[in-house]
Amino acid sequence: MKIVLGPASRELAEGVLKVIGCQGVSVVLRVFPDGESYVRLEGDVLGEDIVIVQTTCPPMQDSKLFQLVFMADAAKRAGANRVTAVVPYFAYARQDKLFLSGEGISVETIVRMLGASGIDDLITVNIHSEQVLSRFSFPVKTVSAISLLADYFVDRGYRGAYALAPDKGATYIAKEAQQVLGGGVGHLSKVRDRYTGQTAQSGEGLDVEGQTVVIFDDIISTGGTIVGAAKILKDLGAKHVFAACVHPLLIGDAAKRMLDAGVKEIIGTDSVPGPYSKVSLSPLISEQLKGAI
Ligand code: R5P
Repeated sequence: MKIVLGPASRELAEGVLKVIGCQGVSVVLRVFPDGESYVRLEGDVLGEDIVIVQTTCPPMQDSKLFQLVFMADAAKRAGANRVTAVVPYFAYARQDKLFLSGEGISVETIVRMLGASGIDDLITVNIHSEQVLSRFSFPVKTVSAISLLADYFVDRGYRGAYALAPDKGATYIAKEAQQVLGGGVGHLSKVRDRYTGQTAQSGEGLDVEGQTVVIFDDIISTGGTIVGAAKILKDLGAKHVFAACVHPLLIGDAAKRMLDAGVKEIIGTDSVPGPYSKVSLSPLISEQLKGAI
């Protein structure tokens, strides 16, 4: 097996290489003056099982997706045997059904494009909804990084912290964190207006007074969900509020808005490389790939 160091996840791929101890394939990436991507694999892949590590997070998620399919196509043309894509953040996963008439199902179109490029199977991390997996026409697996995030808090002396989901749908995430933290678990209520995108949250019945609360979510995008949750938790008397997520998209001034709302620290993974990507996915990805060697 050889690992292709996708330009969007180079550091993560190097981390995986270190753990697994197999050979890496570097990638030359150029962007033409008109914005189109050019990629070239710098290594022999003939007859090899290839793993391409490439996240597709913003900014430029469309370019990252195209780089991924170009790398897969290049690998197959150079005689690679099997091509596995490791895509920690899977772009468009939230557009997984028709919410309003006249829409398309974006994630299904993306999946068709990936399959056509030569990708044989795919591993992703905490995909927004498991329903998305039914849109795949080739084998796909989503693995969870929640216990790695929870370990971060245990290592810093927060065993026993309360694990909170910002909405009912994310309760399974908070429960997974609670298995590691060993404290309480609960969720807020959140309703989103499909036309305006506005959300309304409530913390009714939640008892977090004097507690350290970690809000666990799969994605933090604009930070609006966490800002609202932090305000509710502060009003309920929480001692400290942390925000942890697998995919810290942190669009615009999201991080500042959360910190201003009283969040003590923001913790994400290197699914989305950036200043808050404090937990590496390399142990999780390596474990998955080791099983395939
Ligand atoms: C929603 O269902 C997701 O799990 C996140 O809560 C959401 O995507 C976060 O978005 P934002 O940071 O913009 O509130």
